[in-house]
Amino acid sequence: MEIKVLYGTETGNSESLAKEAKVKLTASGFDTEVLDMKDVSAKKLSGFKNVLIITSTWGDGEPPDNAENLYNELKDASGLDFSNLNYAVLALGQSFYEHFCKTGKDFDEWLEKYGAKRILPIQLSDDDFNDIFPEWIQKVQKTFN
Ligand SMILES: Cc1cc2nc3c(=O)[nH]c(=O)nc-3n(C[C@H](O)[C@H](O)[C@H](O)COP(=O)(O)O)c2cc1C
Repeated sequence: MEIKVLYGTETGNSESLAKEAKVKLTASGFDTEVLDMKDVSAKKLSGFKNVLIITSTWGDGEPPDNAENLYNELKDASGLDFSNLNYAVLALGQSFYEHFCKTGKDFDEWLEKYGAKRILPIQLSDDDFNDIFPEWIQKVQKTFN
């Protein structure tokens, strides 16, 4: 089974987790590809079957630079059909910011709104993302199995 792992990152945390996800999922027999969000349009995303979104939030509740285009496209993606897409979001942030994990929350909400199927509830993380990750990726594996 094919799984695309998309990351939105400013300082590399989400990218590292995406790469770790690939290692774990590949070891479990999934055909996994890591993609930088800057290389994925909303149209391209709508053609994928299984997707993990790992993204931080930056600035004052804004997407990281490499996620900006996809984020803005997904805000109004009403012309696209996401009904074949299964997804789960891991959101990185810090809870002392007013807009805690906003980018991940927006992706999670918008994908559902445009017809994609959420396979797991959104996983929020604070500075504990390295502790949360192993359990999250295990849940992902079980759900896809
Ligand atoms: C300048 C700056 C602004 C940030 N703004 C937010 C924010 O608005 N909301 C939030 O939840 N986290 C915010 N964060 C926290 C980051 O999302 C967090 O450090 C995350 O682990 C970064 O992951 P990345 O390396 O993948 O970008 C901010 C961090 C910095 C340094």
